[in-house]
Amino acid sequence: MQAIVLVGGEGTRLRPLTYGTPKPMVPIMNVPFLARTLERLYAAEIRDIILAAGYMPQAIVDYFGDGSEFGMKVTYAIEETPLGTAGAIKNVEPHVDGPFFVLNGDIFTSLDLRAMREYHHAKGGIGTLHLIRVEDPSPFGCVVHDDDGRVTEFVEKPPKGREPTDEINAGTYLLEREILEFIPAGRNVSIERETFPRVIAQGKNLYAYTTADYWLDLGRPEQYLAAHRDVLRGAMPLAVEPGLSGDGKDALSGHPGVVPPVHAAADVVVDASATVGPNVVLGRGCSIGAGAAVRESVLWERVSVGAGAIVEEAILASGVTIGPKALVAKGSVIGHDVSVDPGAVLEPGARLSSLPKST
Ligand code: GTP
Repeated sequence: MQAIVLVGGEGTRLRPLTYGTPKPMVPIMNVPFLARTLERLYAAEIRDIILAAGYMPQAIVDYFGDGSEFGMKVTYAIEETPLGTAGAIKNVEPHVDGPFFVLNGDIFTSLDLRAMREYHHAKGGIGTLHLIRVEDPSPFGCVVHDDDGRVTEFVEKPPKGREPTDEINAGTYLLEREILEFIPAGRNVSIERETFPRVIAQGKNLYAYTTADYWLDLGRPEQYLAAHRDVLRGAMPLAVEPGLSGDGKDALSGHPGVVPPVHAAADVVVDASATVGPNVVLGRGCSIGAGAAVRESVLWERVSVGAGAIVEEAILASGVTIGPKALVAKGSVIGHDVSVDPGAVLEPGARLSSLPKST
């Protein structure tokens, strides 16, 4: 079976991280997020992957190539201008030869794709949509269905208190090839706003597949940090040991200032008087200076935290340097290669970047 992964978005809400790295390549536990998604597809024996890309596609092509290194076949469709979530699917029609999965490229979930495939075959609709229940459905697309699972209505971003259901579109679909006939070619089309409503209006059956899986949309920095916390505390099943984990764990074991859970890549250096954790991920080559403290944060590769600096609930992209005694306050997101001056005090939620927007 084939899978189309939608990875063409600009990831504006994750700026400035996405100035230097397209959202699908943003690391989750030190591995590009898209590689995590491909691992999940591989485990479900889906090895024929089409990546619908647009923004900064070269970083994606450079990493995955033709897919052979990952035991998969990876084909790329690169959009000159964004075609939207359905337009991107229509654009790859020549590559599609049967029923196919569609995955929003920014969904972090433990959904079992094999079980969804069985459900789809049992129901026999033109498509099956993965749904998840959330406490506050108002920022999402609500999907209403009957007792047999047949979808009856789509309500995008309903006003608070007027949501018709707590079940939302969770961004994974299994579709029959016939659905391509419902998508006009050559223009921007949204699958959730335009295609799915049209399909049910014309009497075709779409089925809801509601599960209680772990599910997170990695759209915003807070969600990106939450995803790491959830993996570190075992709420999202990913092959990560509890406590101290990663290739750099031996260098940190027995360190008095390391407060688990902490995940460290190789070549990290943490001064004997520094504090790291809880809920910290250190990328390859990070260094934490004397008396510095890093808590509830994700540091990409080669980040240097100077002596006495404090980093709290922050995301620091590759090559960032935090000067001695600087304070990186909660919610800060610092883009690639930025240097924060010694003693600087960043406002909570600060955004710093040294890179212009790439394409
Ligand atoms: P924001 O700019 O922060 O909203 O991020 P985004 O556009 O990357 O994400 P959004 O939630 O809008 O999109 C959901 C998924 O669909 C993401 O994985 C996007 O990469 C993908 N996507 C959105 N629009 C397009 C598009 O026009 N073409 C393709 N190929 N993918 C898209």
